[in-house]
Amino acid sequence: MSLFLCLFSLALYSAGSLAAPSPSQNIILRDLAVPRFFGAAANTTFLFHDVNYTKVIETQFSIFTPENEMKWESIEPEPNGFDFTAADEIVRFAESVNAKVRGHNFMWGNQLPPWVNDTLSATELDRALKNHITTIMDHYRGKLYSWDVINEMISDNTPNETFKDNIWTQKFGEEAMPKALTYARAVDSQPKLYINDYSIEGINSKSDALYSVVSSFLADGVPVDAIGFQCHFTLGQIPDTLQENLQRFADLGLDVAITELDINLMGPSNATALEQQAKDYWTVVNACVQTKRCVSTSVWGVSDDHSWIPNGSVLPWNAEKQPKPAFYAIADAFEGKPEP
Ligand SMILES: *[C@@H]1O[C@H](CO)[C@@H](O)[C@H](O)[C@H]1NC(C)=O
Ligand SMILES: *[C@@H]1O[C@H](CO)[C@@H](O)[C@H](O)[C@H]1NC(C)=O
Ligand SMILES: *[C@@H]1O[C@H](CO)[C@@H](O)[C@H](O)[C@H]1NC(C)=O
Ligand SMILES: *[C@@H]1O[C@H](CO)[C@@H](O)[C@H](O)[C@H]1NC(C)=O
Ligand SMILES: *[C@@H]1O[C@H](CO)[C@@H](O)[C@H](O)[C@H]1NC(C)=O
Ligand SMILES: *[C@@H]1O[C@H](CO)[C@@H](O)[C@H](O)[C@H]1NC(C)=O
Repeated sequence: MSLFLCLFSLALYSAGSLAAPSPSQNIILRDLAVPRFFGAAANTTFLFHDVNYTKVIETQFSIFTPENEMKWESIEPEPNGFDFTAADEIVRFAESVNAKVRGHNFMWGNQLPPWVNDTLSATELDRALKNHITTIMDHYRGKLYSWDVINEMISDNTPNETFKDNIWTQKFGEEAMPKALTYARAVDSQPKLYINDYSIEGINSKSDALYSVVSSFLADGVPVDAIGFQCHFTLGQIPDTLQENLQRFADLGLDVAITELDINLMGPSNATALEQQAKDYWTVVNACVQTKRCVSTSVWGVSDDHSWIPNGSVLPWNAEKQPKPAFYAIADAFEGKPEP
């Protein structure tokens, strides 16, 4: 708002001709987050189709991740048959509100189209992977802030097994992740290359496994710039070691980011649960704020009615797109204020 408009509305306001603004109207989380980004997973099913969703999404965020639109089954449903329509819509929208985009994702065991299956030889799969990454990164050259090159590739059975059993590890073994990262860097040196995963938020066996994988990548010159910590949490269960864990990856010389934050009440909503949820959001955002190399915090969705977790009341806005206690707690954390 210009100074003139500002003074003008102030004058109107004191003259009693405008209703008092609701407290949330003045809180813009993307502004409070500076120098970090505050982000959301954007979903074209709702973008421009749910007016109240659109209002929140176009004012509050400075970085977006397409929820599904860049996943392999959506963007390359047929061999070398690309469909950029929905993904482009999000990229154009982000540009229109001066926000960044996190590309999501290249190498993942899920949401693959039927033609990417184990009848492909390792050579054919390798060719498909390289073509996938090269075509998409070429298409978005100069437009994307980062790519989740790797998504959810660390096993849930560490330390006995390091990598998840999926088509990529079946065909390429431990060369799977380096392949994807190397192809990505070869196309475009600008976007930050991420390894994104879940259950790696605290210091535990799985994050230890990732830590040792990433350390060996860095020693071997495999290109990786950053780690994404998904942070799909359950109410009251934020790991105590979150900040310490972010810091140990940052100390490797990497950026870190909270990429898919939501906090599941695991039951119907009530005032007590919403207060705890606010504390939990504060704890996570504060861990990012306290970590110099933490570049962004993104929530996975915007409002409770459009979450991948139905009935979980997991997000900072309710189904009516009104801010919940969690919204104010995020603001407090970005402003360096204590836990609510
Ligand atoms: C948008 O919000 C307004 C005001 O809260 C409400 O009256 C309206 O029904 C909402 N529209 C939709 C499509 O949810
Ligand atoms: C498996 O992949 C091959 C090669 O892309 C394809 O021809 C075949 O139709 C796929 N099988 C299924 C069941 O989709
Ligand atoms: C790892 O292997 C050991 C020995 O086979 C077994 O006792 C343990 O349960 C396994 N741990 C996991 C997490 O699978
Ligand atoms: C409040 O909601 C939470 C989450 O659904 C639930 O575990 C808890 O029992 C509820 N408390 C009350 C007092 O209803
Ligand atoms: C949008 O979100 C809904 C609900 O989670 C999901 O079913 C749908 O696939 C999403 N659409 C896109 C394009 O991501
Ligand atoms: C859970 O969510 C679904 C889909 O959003 C909705 O149809 C259903 O009524 C909800 N159930 C409860 C118990 O709130």
